[in-house]
Amino acid sequence: MSDSAAPLLDVAAVRRDFPILNRPFEQGRHRKGTLPVFLDSAASAQKPQCVIDRERDVEERYFANAYRGVYWFGAKVDEELEASRDAVRRFLNADSVDEIVFTSGTTMSLNLVARAWGGKFLQPGDEVLITEMEHHANIVPWQLICAERGATLRWLPITDDGRLDLECLDELLTARTKLFAVAAMSNVLGTVNPIDELARRAHDVGALICVDAAQSAPHGPLDVQCSGLDFVAFSGHKVFGPTGVGVCYGRRELFDAMNPFLGGGHMIRRVFKNHSEWAELPAKFEAGTLPIVQAIALQSAVEYVERLGHDAIAAHEQQLLRYATEQLTSVPGLTVYGPAIEHKGAICSFTIDGVSAEDLANLLDIKGVCVRHGHHCTMPLHDRLGISASVRASFSLYNTREDVNRLVDAIQFALERLRG
Ligand code: ALA
Repeated sequence: MSDSAAPLLDVAAVRRDFPILNRPFEQGRHRKGTLPVFLDSAASAQKPQCVIDRERDVEERYFANAYRGVYWFGAKVDEELEASRDAVRRFLNADSVDEIVFTSGTTMSLNLVARAWGGKFLQPGDEVLITEMEHHANIVPWQLICAERGATLRWLPITDDGRLDLECLDELLTARTKLFAVAAMSNVLGTVNPIDELARRAHDVGALICVDAAQSAPHGPLDVQCSGLDFVAFSGHKVFGPTGVGVCYGRRELFDAMNPFLGGGHMIRRVFKNHSEWAELPAKFEAGTLPIVQAIALQSAVEYVERLGHDAIAAHEQQLLRYATEQLTSVPGLTVYGPAIEHKGAICSFTIDGVSAEDLANLLDIKGVCVRHGHHCTMPLHDRLGISASVRASFSLYNTREDVNRLVDAIQFALERLRG
């Protein structure tokens, strides 16, 4: 959708929904009264008042354990959890709530797929394909399970401009590939990958596709049925929801065929002394007490995003990305990594010649600008880029051009200090 045709996001109103953005820092090295410029939403997004209120509401009015009590608190918690599960089902356009498993986050979800699917179905000689732009959470679980099962891990390279090198795909995605695990959006480069095409090509060779949607979920819709996705993982705290809760989507027949990931309470139908039988989906993969309050409040988060509208959010973020890219690349010696903005979401990871990422992030904090620095849990990607660390400014629906201006002013301030 072109910028002019897109519905408008009322960013001033959006910002009023996020109390933390409107409070000066309480402590720290900032001048009194400094408001935060929060550019670290790719790590964890801030929460709107409706999410904060929802968590508080559960705690104050009806908190109890879930799926265990018949008293009103327990019944109400069950009802609200199932309403949230259905909201997530709609968010992903999944066919059934049985395909929506609450986990502790993306990392847990990807480990669930690796262990519960890979642990049963990977055989010696099989291959799992991942890419050079993956987060460690979509690398290490596959390394572990491939080593355990005698399978081979293959890497799809990226191009010099930070896109998946699809010319190598035919060579790497073959009849030996049993699963292709790939991020929908890179947490460093911002690259938005062509998930529909990747799913089709994986299925053409008989492989499954497992999508790490941690970064893409706050920025754009995923339609698991339309895109033909087999597994999807995302986290609550990146979609303006609570920490400690995430989602693992799995196609029903895959989840049905898999063994449980964790054993314990709630995931069983019957426990005997010498064996156990599993509960129906999704309980089979939800051993122990769920992050109840967080999982309920996740409903408020995904519905908040839906109310604002994916098109309006995307149009706003794309305008901001364009402006930020123009402003940042005008700083001498600054390199922004990743493809042209048509191929990426609102993330600018950058280095400045001769400047350490940590020193820069530290000095930006003095000006109230919150960014992440380091390898961002993507060491193989940083190796590929030939750098050990970068500074990442990630933009969200509540950021403004003024935030970009403050970032660039803070960079100038930092460079003056460092180059003294
Ligand atoms: N995965 C999160 C990030 O990229 C924490 O910052």
